[in-house]
Amino acid sequence: MTMTARRGTFITLEGIDGCGKSVQAGRLFCWLREHGWDVERTFEPGGWQGGKTLRSLVLNGEIADAETELLIFLADRSGHLASVIWPALEAGRIVLCERYSDSTWAYQVGGRGLDPAKVRGLMELCGFPQPDLTIFLEISPEAAAERLVRRGKADCIETGGIALMSRVAGAYAELAAAHPERIVTVPAGGTEEKVALCIQREMERVLFSGRTCCEVPS
Ligand code: TMP
Repeated sequence: MTMTARRGTFITLEGIDGCGKSVQAGRLFCWLREHGWDVERTFEPGGWQGGKTLRSLVLNGEIADAETELLIFLADRSGHLASVIWPALEAGRIVLCERYSDSTWAYQVGGRGLDPAKVRGLMELCGFPQPDLTIFLEISPEAAAERLVRRGKADCIETGGIALMSRVAGAYAELAAAHPERIVTVPAGGTEEKVALCIQREMERVLFSGRTCCEVPS
């Protein structure tokens, strides 16, 4: 596959269940549009034509095997990249994506305990691009669990409880420490407004640095 310079900016939002990711994605999307940016808002798993089936497969509790679950998340990402993410980046747009490869690392390696070398190898094989910026919304598993309870029904991964979420949170923190050039940690326990302002500051830094990135398949 030949690669050419990609013109858009790829931003991901990450964090444990109940961290406020979707609310912040909505706010950031509006803020970016108000400032004149052309934004594709999307999400994983499931943010593409065909992804709905894969999303319900992994979230409805029918898949108990962690490796099968991993392969579905990767298949979903592959379809999502081909049909949504790459075309938007190629068109010079901002892609704002809720969850991406860091979720796989945090949940399937950190949470489910899959072999890191195996997961890394599979992700390399898939050739997934790195985001330009990842906002990691950090919150304690206890505070996130309270939010989830207030929200009502949880999906099968969310019902893994505090123990699972603590492992996932630990894996995210390790990822953020290992990739400070890409991952920005934003404390997510405060008010929606405060968290949103923090994210906007980071966005200004990235969007006005004149930095453009990597590659798009051609
Ligand atoms: P959400 O999109 O509503 O946050 O829920 C998606 C769930 O799927 C969430 O619990 C995290 C999980 N997930 C993984 O375990 N691995 C992945 O690669 C992705 C994208 C999501």
